[in-house]
Amino acid sequence: MEKIVSLCKRRGFVFPGSEIYGGLAGTWDLGPMGIGLVDNIKREWLRRFVSSREDMYGVKSSILMNSKIWEASGHINFFVDPMVDCKKCKSRFRADKIDVKNGCSNCGAHDFTEARSFNMMFKTHAGPVEDSSTEVYLRPETAQGMFVNFKNVLDTMRPKLPFGLAQVGRAFRNEITPGNFIFRTREFEQMEVEYFVREQDWKKYFEMWHKEMRAWAEDLGISGVSDREVPEEERAHYSGRTVDIDFDYPFGREELWGLAYRQDFDLSQHSKFSGQELTYHDEETKEKITPHVIEPSFGLERTMLAVLLSAYHEDGDRTVLKLKPKLAPYKVAVFPLVANKPQLVEKAREIFLSLKAGGHNLNPVFDDRGNIGKRYYAQDEIGTPWCVTVDYQTLEDDTVTVRDRDTAEQERVSAKDLETYFVDRLL
Ligand code: GAP
Repeated sequence: MEKIVSLCKRRGFVFPGSEIYGGLAGTWDLGPMGIGLVDNIKREWLRRFVSSREDMYGVKSSILMNSKIWEASGHINFFVDPMVDCKKCKSRFRADKIDVKNGCSNCGAHDFTEARSFNMMFKTHAGPVEDSSTEVYLRPETAQGMFVNFKNVLDTMRPKLPFGLAQVGRAFRNEITPGNFIFRTREFEQMEVEYFVREQDWKKYFEMWHKEMRAWAEDLGISGVSDREVPEEERAHYSGRTVDIDFDYPFGREELWGLAYRQDFDLSQHSKFSGQELTYHDEETKEKITPHVIEPSFGLERTMLAVLLSAYHEDGDRTVLKLKPKLAPYKVAVFPLVANKPQLVEKAREIFLSLKAGGHNLNPVFDDRGNIGKRYYAQDEIGTPWCVTVDYQTLEDDTVTVRDRDTAEQERVSAKDLETYFVDRLL
């Protein structure tokens, strides 16, 4: 884990939040490489689960929403963690995450208060007046933004069951004990689907989404996932069944993504609290029904962490991130063999600019610093799948060497065929 944290900092993936002011617990910032990776993960998610399917619709709801939403959803009453305080040093812990009898607090004492409920929603005020009437919450899940737009999408898009709404966006939780790098933070991004089905079909679609989630983990190159059937007493208040997709992190097996059967809980509650009818007119039976919901929920930062941990390899003195090429921030690096030969530099820049102008998201990078071996190693460490080197032979026959990150093997490719060469291999 330390190696990943250090690589992320050193190479511009993830920086501690507010670092020059000593940081802010539970927050992390993405650097240029981190943005490259998460944007590619998000793009893959949207392509796979939204744009390549006929039954999915995207929405983007506000982070600030009417507080009644959180009453209806049960978050005001139930979105709580049990908290204990160390009586000696006053540190706070999640009671379900430490062994209160033997567990260690920061000071080594074992004397805790009784567990109390702590609501994890961040509260703020909309507008200049700070009283209870202006209280609003930062959303702790993107899901509710989809339930409250259910009717809008029905009215505008006229979808047929089963269909889903999808959203990518930030969520906020005042976690008692954030930690393990970007695994548990107070601000993070979710990629969620609310999939509406007829009640009698829920098991079928639960299985369908379960398979989809496992297949996506494999597609991203995430290794070491397992399923955990969540027992009833641990499930969220709305869930009739939950399966966690767990990942073997260096700190133990913990949740990566979650799959829940939310029943008709949310639509029924919002209907009750808003006074609006949130039903679907079933043309087959001529009945109005409240659809049931299957919810696959994905945390973006945990996905990024699992992708990085799965891709991390050490090969002698070489550190290699064996990212799937489609996830790599840069797909290609272009080098002149040496930096002090203007003809080589000029040709390398020409190739770099033509790849950059191409519309294939190759996101090439140019580098002429140091020696070629160092440049290869630097690209291996950030997961760039291919390095192109312009050498003296290039000036004669317009071919370049393409070096493969994983095998370190090189082949000669005609400069004019480079774009096709990479696009064909972008899996
Ligand atoms: N709408 C359902 C829901 O929010 P959840 O299991 O509480 O369910 C879904 O969260 C996913 O969001 C988790 O599987 C995880 O990937 C991510 N997640 C939850 N809390 C997180 C936190 N504090 N930091 C980072 N990711 C988190």
